[in-house]
Amino acid sequence: MTKKMWYSLMAGLMATVLVLSACTPVTTEAPPMTEAPATEAPMTEAPMTEAPVGGRVEVFSWWTGGGEAAGLEAMIAIFAEQYPDIEFVNAAVAGGAGTNARAVLATRLQSGDPPDSWQGHAGQELIGTYVAGGQIEPLNDLYESEGWTDVMPQTLIPLISQDGNIYSVPVNIHRANVLWYNPAVLEANGVTVPATIEEWFTAMDTLQAAGVTPLALGEQWTKMHLMETVLLGTLGADAYNGLWDGTTDWGSAEVKTALENFAKVLTYANSDSSSLSWQDAAQLVVNGDAAFNVMGDWAEGYFRELGKAPNTDYGWAPTPGSAGVFQFLSDSFVLAVGAPDPEAATAWLKIAGSKEGQEAFNPVKGSICARTDCDKALFGEYLQSAMDDWASDTVVGSLTHGVVANDSWKTEIDTALGLFVADGNVENFQAALVAACASSGPC
Ligand code: GAL
Repeated sequence: MTKKMWYSLMAGLMATVLVLSACTPVTTEAPPMTEAPATEAPMTEAPMTEAPVGGRVEVFSWWTGGGEAAGLEAMIAIFAEQYPDIEFVNAAVAGGAGTNARAVLATRLQSGDPPDSWQGHAGQELIGTYVAGGQIEPLNDLYESEGWTDVMPQTLIPLISQDGNIYSVPVNIHRANVLWYNPAVLEANGVTVPATIEEWFTAMDTLQAAGVTPLALGEQWTKMHLMETVLLGTLGADAYNGLWDGTTDWGSAEVKTALENFAKVLTYANSDSSSLSWQDAAQLVVNGDAAFNVMGDWAEGYFRELGKAPNTDYGWAPTPGSAGVFQFLSDSFVLAVGAPDPEAATAWLKIAGSKEGQEAFNPVKGSICARTDCDKALFGEYLQSAMDDWASDTVVGSLTHGVVANDSWKTEIDTALGLFVADGNVENFQAALVAACASSGPC
């Protein structure tokens, strides 16, 4: 199959999937190419403590602090309750968005030393890297025994499946396109929450003139995160999706406008961005030192950990130009091929996919359950609004967090972005993005 054909198959699949109501449980036929196995799955979950399992499970992620570790700890506590005889080894490697962790993981996988389970994003990251590399096991039996085909959203299954095999256990849904703001800072400067990119520029001009830092920004991956939201806000959902299936021309005038918007947005940011983590940048907003920050909703987990209150210390809105669109990603756990302790790893996956595990993890992590049956009352105001939006918005995938582009394409985009951040040359940046799509994407 040619590269173009492969991408158009994947794109067709993504498009079919992403327009489906995001919260519909998988109760009807599975989508094309990714059928779940014929299932007589029980309607309720299998008990999680059938047999005492001993052993040791090593779980790899990058959730080491700032709201993220707390979410993981909450799920580990459920695991310890259900499987007291299994030793849990938390192999998390620090660094937002897994920038460091994924490099460490790649080295371990290359040298035949896999952790039992790791956090892999649903979508191209999972399919294009770990499935393509034969590094993770299919989990169809587990889906059947745990009844997960009935409770995992139809949106997700194709993004974690290939050739009828399901390869991971999604633990959550995160939203990428969130504009966080400090309500008091906006009010003090007579600024209202911007709905469009133009309104955002006007608001940031006002703030800048008043001596307020308009936008808090961090290290490079947070710039890619910002860029994907500006692409979405400028192009709209359809043309944004087209970037990833070859139907939107990266060399077009509309993409140029989006990149110019991105270049302009960057001018409103703090000058020390490259030395700040996402937590540092987000904190500038809740501390009143900056007005806006664009970050995924793990920021909400962090704000809560800091003891900040929704609507008082922080407010939220879709990033400018993206109302009605939910740009998503999903953290999901896998079973390594050659896992040192597959039985203990399977026990971990059962907790990651369980209602109890997800209800413990997500309200703290700042995400909504991947499962469709979590109790809404356990979640705070922001996450309840995210649940509503996930159920009703148009759903598109995140670049930075593994949904829409494979790792080699994303790496090329990242390299081009690094040069752009240094030289600010939009023409060169656009040319590099055109080339990246040609060499690693569907163009
Ligand atoms: C994402 C991940 C989120 C959160 C974020 C910041 O890639 O999916 O769960 O951890 O990075 O580290």
